[in-house]
Amino acid sequence: MKHLTVSPLKNLIKTTLSVPSDKSISHRAIIIGAIANGRTEIKNLLTSEDCLCTLKIMQQLGVEISNFNNFETVTVYGKGLNSFTEPKNILNCGNSGTTMRLMSGLLSGQNFLSVLVGDDSLMNRPMRRVIEPLTLMGAKIFGREDNTKAPIVITPGILHGISYEMPVSSAQVKSAIMLAGIQAKGETKIIEKEKSRDHTERMLTAFGATIKCDKNEIIIGSEQNLQAQNISIPGDVSSAAFFMAACAIIPGSEMLLQKVSTNPTRTGIITVLKKMGIKIESTNKKEVSGEPIADLFISSGELNATEVKGSTIPLLIDEIPILCIAMAQANGKSIIKDAKELRFKESDRIKTMVQVLNKLGVEVNELEDGLEINGLAGEPFKLNHSIEWPKHSDHRIAMSIAIAALKANEPVQVPGAEWISTSFPTFEKLIHQIQMAVV
Ligand code: S3P
Repeated sequence: MKHLTVSPLKNLIKTTLSVPSDKSISHRAIIIGAIANGRTEIKNLLTSEDCLCTLKIMQQLGVEISNFNNFETVTVYGKGLNSFTEPKNILNCGNSGTTMRLMSGLLSGQNFLSVLVGDDSLMNRPMRRVIEPLTLMGAKIFGREDNTKAPIVITPGILHGISYEMPVSSAQVKSAIMLAGIQAKGETKIIEKEKSRDHTERMLTAFGATIKCDKNEIIIGSEQNLQAQNISIPGDVSSAAFFMAACAIIPGSEMLLQKVSTNPTRTGIITVLKKMGIKIESTNKKEVSGEPIADLFISSGELNATEVKGSTIPLLIDEIPILCIAMAQANGKSIIKDAKELRFKESDRIKTMVQVLNKLGVEVNELEDGLEINGLAGEPFKLNHSIEWPKHSDHRIAMSIAIAALKANEPVQVPGAEWISTSFPTFEKLIHQIQMAVV
């Protein structure tokens, strides 16, 4: 998808949508399937560019992976932790921070040289956060600019367990340490100040690992004997959030989102939208492959400003760009604080969203760790033609602009639309679906 033009919606939304599978769980299914023993069948793997990077890297490491019926089922033939072979070339993680950080942990315990690179955005994202704890574990891992950035070079090291208090809340770093921990001598303990998404813990447990999780503490032992499992991946709540927000900014809309992950470490967006006045009901609640899922029925009315901060931030970190769009349509001033991590995502999402909101005619104040947004109380976004859209390579910024365009005073050619396929290959199709399904 190179160009995407989105026209304002003339009417209400009334439709049922299926969003693509969860990106975080998809990465983990490929990686944990590869280190388990036996045949792991993955249903509904997300085949976005990010997840395909993880899949290709696993194949470069000698893992056999086959797919049936255009990725309907992907089979990973896992042969255990010691089965990888030295890659003949560099390992390209593309735009995917999850791939680079999780692979850093996994490769730190391997007996060969590996080099991880990515695209321009990823090569500028912070990697000290992963290099530092892995080095403490005995890894021989190095990065450009005094071990702060990729390329990341890993040579064989002998790993031992550590007790590590995480300085920032990050599921990618936590998962890297766990994937190194299962190859280390002795136990590894990780302490989080604020709980981040727990998909690695859940999936390792489902594959039979011995792992103790108590509130914000994880203890994982070495020499794990992981057994292959069949995994079914639920819809991604981070992708669903774009369409929840579409409902929220078009009052009177109704939408059913099917089979969405409702893992409590990911549902901050549901809690906050409810607080703003959106009705969200969960039905058909189930547990699939260790993860809770449900159908979500969204109905919108008046939208009120709110404040989001503290331990809620990691529970909706990826949803903040689209939450800014909902806040920009609310009655009153909304505030987002304690979210400095946004500056280290695929773009500096505080700076980029400030530019986006300015372009949309919204009064916004940039904070060091967040934003203050004066809502338009339901007035359409009025594009400011003397301001440029920000240049970016960030899928979530592009999708946030596309959703805002549904409530703009003129059609919008979405800048950076080519990045959307890193996480949401069917986004354009679903935008058309809601445009066709107006009542
Ligand atoms: C992810 C963790 C989060 C999130 C990212 C995916 C994961 O990043 O922003 O999109 O799959 O573990 P951090 O670990 O940097 O918080």
